[in-house]
Amino acid sequence: MTRTVYVNGEYLPEDQATISIFDRGFLFADGVYEVTSVLDGKLIDFAGHARRLQRSLDELEMANPVTEEDLLEIHRELVRANGLTEGLIYLQVTRGAADRDFAYPSEDTQPTIVLFTQAKAGLADNPMAKTGMKVISIADERWGRRDIKTVQLLYPSMGKMAAKAAGAHDAWMVEDGVVTEGTSNNAYIVKGNTIITRHLGHEILHGITRAAVLRMAREAQMKVEERPFTMEEAKAADEAFVTSASTFVMPVVEIDGTPVGGGTPGKVAARLREIYLDEMRKVAV
Ligand code: PDD
Repeated sequence: MTRTVYVNGEYLPEDQATISIFDRGFLFADGVYEVTSVLDGKLIDFAGHARRLQRSLDELEMANPVTEEDLLEIHRELVRANGLTEGLIYLQVTRGAADRDFAYPSEDTQPTIVLFTQAKAGLADNPMAKTGMKVISIADERWGRRDIKTVQLLYPSMGKMAAKAAGAHDAWMVEDGVVTEGTSNNAYIVKGNTIITRHLGHEILHGITRAAVLRMAREAQMKVEERPFTMEEAKAADEAFVTSASTFVMPVVEIDGTPVGGGTPGKVAARLREIYLDEMRKVAV
């Protein structure tokens, strides 16, 4: 099936959508992105993703080509045009096309904006939520501004390949002896009644799912500590899990070959997944 995608103001069949070979996203990874999930044909936490997009653009002094209202309309039109009931919408904004030069082009350069959908049946009903995922550890060798959601994803790709080669599902990245995050998700451990996840800073992406899950955990009277943790602490934890727009809350049952919490998904992760999906479906747009 040919998808309908959005490119610079137009809805087009995917095989007719093009951008310039001089696009700075292609030449310099000079672009940012967002991933928003769709459940029951509705957008999960759209406002959170729109807010982070604006923050990423501001940090890079990049113009936003669309208002939040227009962006919502584009997302909704893509859901409609593609008959999407469950899946993801990717949004990419770059500084646009200009003759190759490290310096940013003049301010009248039009940013490039592209959106496309990915249908994913079983996003909410993901069987992995019952079995859990295995992670390995790798060194965090990404650049220093991981709070900006740039399209510079080569190191996370390498991490996923290393995980795959080791028979695992993902890699947790370690820097200065502590875990930063997963290659495409935020990382958590549970010790007793306490949920522990790294504090915000330039070292990790400020996950939109993370913000919602921590708020819901606190509302449910769970204890949350935002601080760094080591791999040793993670291996000895009662539970581990990750969060992201594409996995919601996903249990981790093995770290570097060591079973966590008996090697089966934990209660806290299961409860948070349920609360998150229930709450977010209610306010989806
Ligand atoms: N990844 N950390 C990293 C490095 C990420 O790439 C992501 C998201 C997250 C979680 O953020 P959020 O909860 O806002 O999705 C944390 C997306 C899903 C991706 O690139 O596919």
